[in-house]
Amino acid sequence: MKPTRGQGAGDHKEKKRGSARRLLITIDGPAGVGKSTVSQSLAKHLGYVYLDTGALYRAVAWKIQQLKSDPNDPIQVEAILSHTDIGILPQTDGIAIQIDGVVVEPGALRTPEVSQLASTIAALPRVRAWLLPVQRKFGEACGVVAEGRDMGTRVFPQADIKFFLDADVTVRAMRRHLEFAQKGRDQSLESVQEDMTARDRRDRTREIAPLYPAEEATIIDTSHQSADQVVEQMMKVIADRL
Ligand code: DC
Repeated sequence: MKPTRGQGAGDHKEKKRGSARRLLITIDGPAGVGKSTVSQSLAKHLGYVYLDTGALYRAVAWKIQQLKSDPNDPIQVEAILSHTDIGILPQTDGIAIQIDGVVVEPGALRTPEVSQLASTIAALPRVRAWLLPVQRKFGEACGVVAEGRDMGTRVFPQADIKFFLDADVTVRAMRRHLEFAQKGRDQSLESVQEDMTARDRRDRTREIAPLYPAEEATIIDTSHQSADQVVEQMMKVIADRL
């Protein structure tokens, strides 16, 4: 039988606010599909906390980059993990990540190099195992929207509601390209799409916790929908469960 939230040890954590149940909601999908915007907006709508798990993988990648370590050498990666403290600090518009007591500047986590490196180290079983309890601990909070690649399949199989967002790669690349341009980063559309395709391939084909929709996930194609429309669609699914 699949575990359901609220059974066993987690019972005492199932609090209620007013008459509404506080749910654990997962949102998975590939890069550039609009997960972060939608997850943040949904969390705000519901008054829930938002967990951006990609930021955790990015933070580990960032530390490996800072130390100029080899991400393909398991011994070096293990040595780094065993000397790393990671903390998640909820903010009004998301989370900040603390590494070894210092908050990592959010822009440093979103460079193209860190994006590729995060996807590379995310394929390492040791890194995934190390981050698993960190994510699950945060998921114990009442009312969480957790965003990533394996939220519904591996980290929170007991989630109350699961969504999987998808969109055409050309649309996703265009969105990311515009987002970069707004931030003053000059990366051609072609190069953004190449990076995205490489990352997708790694994320979908890795042996451990690859990206795929959980069996019970509601799949939403965001190619031709605004973030507000996607959130509205999600709220209809969620309304029945509150
Ligand atoms: O969501 P993002 O683009 O910030 O994620 C960065 C990388 O981290 C992504 O390419 C794959 C990895 N990741 C993962 O493997 N599992 C997650 N739950 C979240 C991210």
